[in-house]
Amino acid sequence: MEISSPLLSWFDLEKRDLPFRKKRNPYRIWVSEIMLQQTKVETVIPYYHKWIKNYPNIVSVSESNESSLLKSWEGLGYYSRCRNFHKAAKIVCEQYNAKIPDSWDAFRALPGVGDYTAGAVLSIAFKKPFIALDGNVKRVMARILGRKKLSKYNIQRFISTLKKCLDHDRPGDFNEAMMELGACICFPISPKCHKCPISDFCAAYKSGNPLSYPLKDKKKKIPQRIFVACLIKEKNKILIQRRQSNMLNGLWEIPNKRVNNINHINNELKNYINKQYGFDIKVLKKLGTISHSYSHFNMKLILLECKKIGRIKNYNQTYNWIKKTDIINYAFHKVNHKIFTLLDNDF
Ligand code: ADE
Repeated sequence: MEISSPLLSWFDLEKRDLPFRKKRNPYRIWVSEIMLQQTKVETVIPYYHKWIKNYPNIVSVSESNESSLLKSWEGLGYYSRCRNFHKAAKIVCEQYNAKIPDSWDAFRALPGVGDYTAGAVLSIAFKKPFIALDGNVKRVMARILGRKKLSKYNIQRFISTLKKCLDHDRPGDFNEAMMELGACICFPISPKCHKCPISDFCAAYKSGNPLSYPLKDKKKKIPQRIFVACLIKEKNKILIQRRQSNMLNGLWEIPNKRVNNINHINNELKNYINKQYGFDIKVLKKLGTISHSYSHFNMKLILLECKKIGRIKNYNQTYNWIKKTDIINYAFHKVNHKIFTLLDNDF
């Protein structure tokens, strides 16, 4: 299937003028490919600029601490990408003399590097002949090959076809062109087939019904989980804590817990604070309710203002008392920024 030549001609003329396509080097390409996973280009652009300004090379990442890196990543989501990149940068500096390895085995073994990242970075940065199969490219391939399901078997077909089509003189451009086609032409809904450089090769286009390729998964019902959070004030400062959890690890938040029994919210919160900090609380009033959607659950969080009774006697996690003006010095996850909008200026 001769898709490479029309695809690359189209890409050369039509590719978007994106910041991570200018002044390229393996480090910058790696940063952009991590940020672009599960995240739209428009969202990534300001983060990419800020990151390159703060951390111009791999050494600056390896020498930074995780908290500062998370602060630069704050709001971009999927924070394990950031923590893994930090670990990977340290390994590159310690074991590879700060030179990003260009072999599949060495690069693929770094924390956070999967088949997609390895293929994208090695092909774009080092012209190595590897393919890069992301969500957009899966959709393009499902349409080209006329496959309705993204089954394991079909994904293998996409991979073997892409390997056969890959342009060995321009593997990085080939991969980027496929992604660009998915992002700019081969939309999930209303694809612009009349502008597609490879519609001649596309089974879905020929079928007259490209939207059926691939068929949408039945929407899974996303469960709702209720949380309760407490705003504990003391002398214009509030209590915050650092998460130690698989999810959002290392980010800051006000104390909160998932509610087991909706009828016992206050007691559940009191017990939690007592266990975590060894003091009692008195619930003063409800400040509001926050909704937030994660990929696997919808959160409803009830925010209560509480009075601290007694001293902190023990604590099971890192905590701090901060003023409103200190918020900018900590990386908080999105729910907390929503909480902050409910608070008075002086707390
Ligand atoms: N999505 C992920 N990486 C990309 C790239 N290099 N170009 C366009 N879209 C992308």
